[in-house]
Amino acid sequence: MCEDYHNSNLTKETINLEMARQSLIEEFQAINWYQERFELTGDEELKKILAHNRDEEKEHAAMLMEYIRKNDPVQDDKFLHHD
Ligand SMILES: [Fe+2]
Repeated sequence: MCEDYHNSNLTKETINLEMARQSLIEEFQAINWYQERFELTGDEELKKILAHNRDEEKEHAAMLMEYIRKNDPVQDDKFLHHD
């Protein structure tokens, strides 16, 4: 993914925010996949593992959101002021 940016004129800040946003998308996808598998399996041991992993992905998403809020003031403001 980072190779996509090597020959561009994008700023370092734009590249870092884009990588963080893309990573956030991937964390949310992982949460959805773990949740689906959690609901589909009838194996209680696997259910526990999937729930644990799903919740770890939520932590990863929170860490990325925190980074984005710290580095994108407009996005940060939208958490406080929105319709
Ligand atoms: Fe993750």
